[in-house]
Amino acid sequence: MTYDLIVIGTGPGGYVCAIRAAQLGLKVAVVEKRKAFGGTCLNVGCIPSKALLHASELFDEAGHAFAKMGIKVGKPALDLKTMMAFKQEAIDGNVKGIEFLLKKNKIDSFHGLGTILAPGRVQVTAEDGATQVLEAAAIVIATGSDVAQLPGIAIDETRIVSSTGALALDHVPGKLVVVGAGVIGLELGSVWRRLGAEVTVVEFLDRILPGMDSEVCRQFQRILERQGFTFRLGSKVSAIDTSGKQLSLTVEPAAGGEASKIEADVVLVAIGRVPFTAGLGLEAVGVALDQKGRVVVDEHYATTVPGIYAIGDVIAGPMLAHKAEEEGVAVAELLAGRAGHVNYAVIPGVLYTAPEVATVGRTEDGLKKDGIAYKVGKFPFTANGRAKANQQTEGFVKILADAATDRVLGVHIIGSDAGNMIAEAAIAMEFGASAEDIARTCHAHPTLPEAVKEAALAVDKRALHI
Ligand code: FAD
Ligand code: NAI
Repeated sequence: MTYDLIVIGTGPGGYVCAIRAAQLGLKVAVVEKRKAFGGTCLNVGCIPSKALLHASELFDEAGHAFAKMGIKVGKPALDLKTMMAFKQEAIDGNVKGIEFLLKKNKIDSFHGLGTILAPGRVQVTAEDGATQVLEAAAIVIATGSDVAQLPGIAIDETRIVSSTGALALDHVPGKLVVVGAGVIGLELGSVWRRLGAEVTVVEFLDRILPGMDSEVCRQFQRILERQGFTFRLGSKVSAIDTSGKQLSLTVEPAAGGEASKIEADVVLVAIGRVPFTAGLGLEAVGVALDQKGRVVVDEHYATTVPGIYAIGDVIAGPMLAHKAEEEGVAVAELLAGRAGHVNYAVIPGVLYTAPEVATVGRTEDGLKKDGIAYKVGKFPFTANGRAKANQQTEGFVKILADAATDRVLGVHIIGSDAGNMIAEAAIAMEFGASAEDIARTCHAHPTLPEAVKEAALAVDKRALHI
C-alpha cells in the first residue's frame, strides 16, 4: 500500500502529526506496536498519573481539608482497586478518542512493530509474526522513550518499579523509596504519600528538579517536606538487596564516602527516560543517532536519511507530550509544503503535585549565567484574595523581565492551579509581551491569575496588594 506519509508510533507526537497531515490532504498511515493508541502519555504516562494524582489529592483533602470547611465525611477509607479502575477508565476513554480521531481523518492504522527497510518502505510485523510492507514518500519516526535503568538494579515492576509499575501497585507500600527527585519521582511519590506511604526520595544532585528555577525548587522542597517527604540529596543508590521481606538499599554519598542502608517495601526508579529506537532498523538504513541515542534531526526534523523525519521524545529537547505534539504539527506542515515551526523558548513545564509547579521560559539561574540583566517581580498567594478564600495560599508567582526592554523572559509559579495559570504567561511570551503588558491587562476578581498580574506590577515595584 502506498501513502504520502507513514508515522511510526501513535503517542502525542505521532497521532497529532498524522491528524495534521491528513487535514492538509496527505494520505496517511500510522503504525503502532502497542495494542492501544496514545503512546506512553495515554497508556502509562500523563493520563494515568494525572488520574491518580487527582483521586489521591481528593482522598488526602477529604482527610485533612474538608472538616474545616464544615464538611463532615469521617475518616476516608481507601478502595485502591476502584481507584485503579477510575484510572483505567481515564486511559480507555482517551485511547478511544484517538481511535475516533484517526478514523475521522481517514488515517489507516496498522498494529505491529514498524521497521524501516529503506527510505519509503516500512515493514509491519504483527504480534503473530505476520508481516506486510507499506510504502510512502515520507516516514516520521515518533517512537518516544523508555525508562532509564539504574545499572545493576533490575526493575521487576512489583517491588522495584518504574513509573509503569508505580501506576499499578495493588497495595499501598508502607515505605516507598523513590530514586530521582525529578517530575516522575515527585508526582508519583505524592500519589503514594497521600494514600499512606512513608516516602523517602534519594537524589544524586544536591537539589530537587534540576533545570528548574532554584528559588522555586528550594521553596517547593520545603513544602514537600511539610507534607511528609524525606529527601536524601547528594546521594545515590548503589545496590538493592532483594533477599529479605523488605528491600535493603545501599545509599552512598554522590561525592563518595560511607554507605548507609535504608529499608523499603517498594523502590521507584525514576532517574529519567531514554529515547526508544529498538527494532526500527535505523542502523541498517543509516539514520544517525547522537551520543544519548536520540535521532539526529535538522531544524526541519529531517534525519540524516532523506525522506525520514523524527519528532517527540526520540529527538533532543524536553520529553513532554505538548512538545511532541507541536513538533508533530510542524513536521506535517513542512511535509505539506507549509512553514512548520516550534518556538522552543516557550515550552511550558508543569509538575502536577499539590500545590502545582509551573514554569515557562528562562530561569533566574540561567539569566545570571548568561549575564543577561533582568528585573524580578514576585507576588505570594498569601496576598491573593481567592487563594485566601480557598485557604490554599502556598507559593508565589515570579516573573523575570529584561532589564532594558521589560520583555517577559520567564515565569515560574508554585500554587494551586499553577498548571492552568502558566498558559497566560506562555501566550504573553509567544506574543513578545512586556511585564507592563500583563500588568495593564484587566484580570477577573477574585481569581488566582490576579497574582500573575500583581507579579507583573511587582516587576516595576508597584504591586497593589502587598
Ligand atoms: P510516546 O508517547 O512514547 O509514543 C511512542 C509510541 O511509539 C508508543 O506507543 C510505542 O509503542 C510506539 N513505538 C515505538 N517503537 C515502535 C515501532 N518500532 N513500531 C511501532 N510503534 C512503535 N508529559 C507531559 O507533557 N505532561 C505530563 O503530565 C506527563 N506525565 C508523564 C508521566 C509519566 C509517568 C511518564 C512516563 C511520562 C509523562 N510525560 C508527560 C511525558 C510524555 O508521556 C512524553 O513526553 C510523550 O508521551 C512523548 O510522546 P511521543 O509521541 O514522542 O512518544
Ligand atoms: P527527570 O529527568 O525529571 O528526573 C530524574 C532525576 O533523577 C534527576 O533529578 C536526576 O538528577 C536524578 N538521578 C539521575 N540518576 C540518579 C541516580 N543514579 N541516583 C539518584 N538520582 C538520580 O526524569 P523522570 O522524573 O524520570 O521523568 C522522565 C521524563 O518524563 C522527564 O523528562 C519529564 O519530561 C517526563 N515527565 C513529565 C511530567 C510532567 O510534565 N508533569 C510528569 C512525568 C514525567
